[in-house]
Amino acid sequence: MLYTNIYLNNIMHRIAVLISGRGSNLLALIEGSINALFSAEIVCVIANCEASGLQHAKKYNIPYFVVPHTQFKTRELFDREINSILQDSGVNFICLAGFMRMLSPYFIKEWQNKIINIHPSLLPAFKGLNAQQQALDAGVKVSGCTVHFVNEELDAGKIIVQSAVPVLDGDNVDTLSDRILAVEHKCYVEALKILFKNA
Ligand code: GRF
Repeated sequence: MLYTNIYLNNIMHRIAVLISGRGSNLLALIEGSINALFSAEIVCVIANCEASGLQHAKKYNIPYFVVPHTQFKTRELFDREINSILQDSGVNFICLAGFMRMLSPYFIKEWQNKIINIHPSLLPAFKGLNAQQQALDAGVKVSGCTVHFVNEELDAGKIIVQSAVPVLDGDNVDTLSDRILAVEHKCYVEALKILFKNA
């Protein structure tokens, strides 16, 4: 793995994980926290729909919230609701893990340098949706995943850690996605180890 030398200061980190789907990265983060692989606690999980990944929050008794984005007239109103849950929960750091909503400029500003995301490609290659299919279409022999800070630009914030994964002859989007996903789980935990090593 390749990583930058970013260290956050010495405060107790209370993480919210935002999800939209199955939550396998959420599970990796919960297990990493329980096993004290990094010094930060996952204090709440928020989903914008009835995501199946909420099962992991339930299993580990982590408070969780479903905030259906369809109930809000604008992106910012949805984000303000998320923000108020985060404030009420005493959260000071956010991990996006398969959260399929773009965040508003308001929210990004409010949480500047406190939101990170995992993306299934070696950024800056293959930003946006269907990154694994983009890699196959481009014919690259190596892809992977990236954990990065979130800023106003899509998948463009400072990179924290990356892992490479070979693209094999005969790969399809499912086989490649599965191989990348297995590495994502390690990479996301590694990112939190790097960020919260001094906490
Ligand atoms: C992962 O591939 C992640 O990189 C992408 O969305 C997927 C989420 O998977 N942003 P899971 O819900 O964590 O299993």
